[in-house]
Amino acid sequence: MIFGKQLMPLVIKMSKRQLNDFEAFRKVLSQSKNIVALTGAGVSAESGIPTFRGEGGLWRKYRSADLATPHAFYTKPHLVWEFYHYRRTIAFNAQPNDAHKALAKYEKLCEEQGHKFNIITQNVDGLHTKAGSRNVIELHGALHKVVCTNVKCGTVAENFDDPICEALRGRGDPMVREDLPMIDKKDLPKCKKCSGLLRPYIVWFGENLDPDILQQARDLVEECDICLVIGTSSVVYPAAMFAPLVAERGKPVAEFNLTEEPASDLFQFHFPGPCGSTLPRALNIQI
Ligand code: APR
Repeated sequence: MIFGKQLMPLVIKMSKRQLNDFEAFRKVLSQSKNIVALTGAGVSAESGIPTFRGEGGLWRKYRSADLATPHAFYTKPHLVWEFYHYRRTIAFNAQPNDAHKALAKYEKLCEEQGHKFNIITQNVDGLHTKAGSRNVIELHGALHKVVCTNVKCGTVAENFDDPICEALRGRGDPMVREDLPMIDKKDLPKCKKCSGLLRPYIVWFGENLDPDILQQARDLVEECDICLVIGTSSVVYPAAMFAPLVAERGKPVAEFNLTEEPASDLFQFHFPGPCGSTLPRALNIQI
């Protein structure tokens, strides 16, 4: 089992795939009693939240993934905070799109029928919860949470302040060409308990996922009888291995992505296109 968040190539072979077969998918779904939806940045793209890879994967001259590291925070905390201030502002103002809404409505239907429906998300924007989903596991943390870097404190707290501190007001513009003047460490967000430097409560590259959260996700993946993979490039582990594990148990996996090609040949269903359109149709949900 891989605990650390890391990039890895996915190399899996096989399958008789059903492309855009909504009818066949609905039939399989209707026979499922334990459903897992694994979501990534693509599910929030139609809410105006930039994805990590492809278009929108850059902030200024930096790749998003290069700023999401403990090293970047250690060497340039002001820059990382500017980046996260930008992302927090977007997320706090974003509204759930039809894909989030369809998942929330489907969860309610499942509840009424006594079926299990869980979302495992790599997203940190909180939009599944805003849409009304209740069974959501946030693998990579949340933008509206902070954690104190003082090892003696380590307090995790919710924080919706925007800006989170005065020094970040007006900062974070992604189009700025040159680095702006540095913000002194003492002016960056501070812990309300001990005044230690705060950081975003996000699992960065090279860091371990919370073992309890990972275990919960793993249990769901091992028990489910169908998995929907929505808007993820499936290149960041451990999340990238969840759907292949379901498929290897002989259970159906349905992928919803802009790409024409599925992330794995093991996946039975593939629905190319924006998931704000494909997902409500596949789940037979009126928004
Ligand atoms: N509908 C469906 N899929 C979409 C849409 C859309 N409207 N828009 C984009 N996509 C797809 C892209 O084709 C791509 O495969 O969403 C995927 C987004 O991929 P990434 O940007 O790599 O996001 P994600 O898979 O969530 O990244 C995983 O990497 O940087 C880290 O921690 C970060 O949680 C993130 C993790």
